[in-house]
Amino acid sequence: MNIPMVDLKVKYRKHKEEFDNAVIGVMESGMFIMGPEVSAFEREIEAYYGMKHAVGVASGTDALLIAALSLGIGKGDEVIVPAFTFIATSEIVIRAGATPVFADINPDTFTLDPEDIRKKITPKTKAIIPVHLYGHPADMDSIMKIAKEHNLFVIEDCAQAQGATFAGKQVGSFGDMGCFSFFPTKNLGGYGDGGLILTNNDEAFEKIKALKNHGSFERYYHCLHGFNSRLDSMQAAILRIKLRHLDEWNDQRRAVAKRYRDGLKDTVYTAPFEAENVKHVYHQYTIKVPAKRNELKEFLAKKGISSMIYYPVSNHLQEVYKDLGWKKGDLPISEDLQDKVLSLPIYPDLSNENVDLILEALKEFQSEIKQ
Ligand SMILES: Cc1ncc(COP(=O)(O)O)c(C=O)c1O
Repeated sequence: MNIPMVDLKVKYRKHKEEFDNAVIGVMESGMFIMGPEVSAFEREIEAYYGMKHAVGVASGTDALLIAALSLGIGKGDEVIVPAFTFIATSEIVIRAGATPVFADINPDTFTLDPEDIRKKITPKTKAIIPVHLYGHPADMDSIMKIAKEHNLFVIEDCAQAQGATFAGKQVGSFGDMGCFSFFPTKNLGGYGDGGLILTNNDEAFEKIKALKNHGSFERYYHCLHGFNSRLDSMQAAILRIKLRHLDEWNDQRRAVAKRYRDGLKDTVYTAPFEAENVKHVYHQYTIKVPAKRNELKEFLAKKGISSMIYYPVSNHLQEVYKDLGWKKGDLPISEDLQDKVLSLPIYPDLSNENVDLILEALKEFQSEIKQ
């Protein structure tokens, strides 16, 4: 048995002709950087999200960094981020010259706890970056309310949540900025790196366009300290095809998640929570294992079942942030989860048969946990 976390080849094979033709089309056009495929993709994304502006960039990390810089976030500012997320969310705050302030998360949704956000606000706070972790939307009602009360920017980290909705509205369309990653394994993933920023802010939009292109509004005239951070035409051509299937492929993930959830009833494992007013898009299917999580991972590996720990160290305890002065005990929920979470294989084409084999293996290990 060999069940990987994701298998990107299935969708490629199914739509091979379309993908191959798209790539050949770009090669024949001779336009590889920006160009018509990128513009067409940006317009299609704007339509999908009902937003005014979409700008492709080189990665999800760059999307977050450029979004923050376009809002003037920098030295002396504090930005509230969840502690329990991929490092990029806080890394870009440092890169922008500001200080990340970690808040704890809700133990069910794995997303920012609004009450803890309130506790972390100081006169220096400039923005909040909610992360829609694993594909479950953060509580955008509460977060937008807090942001309004305190006049803070909101930059949504939607890297793991393309197509997810909160109260019927797409994540990425609530805050000042919505930032996306097109890393190949993402729900909307390219065949290389890529990212995108969504915004309705006209002024910031102009800045974003310049920042991603060496800080120039006009070729060879540079007014901002910029980057080389552009979405390339091949990725855009591939992403245009995949965008047309995003909702269908998310529904396939949701069907896999339902089978897992039904199978996990009456076990020692906690299945992912899905709040009533959200559409979770299950970028990850992450369970909580009450004890012996690492042993379970090994047990599954021996059977040929992949699993991953996203994330083994909460960001406030990462070595790179030791100078910020956080210590164990500061954010108890994030710290508890780093020892309990285990992500199981999930992708649109994961077969019922394989889900059942994974469930069977999980049930077999239960007696070890109960001892
Ligand atoms: C929550 C989160 N934020 C940001 C990123 C960064 O995206 P990228 O890898 O495209 O730079 C990722 C991607 O892995 C992510 O999972």
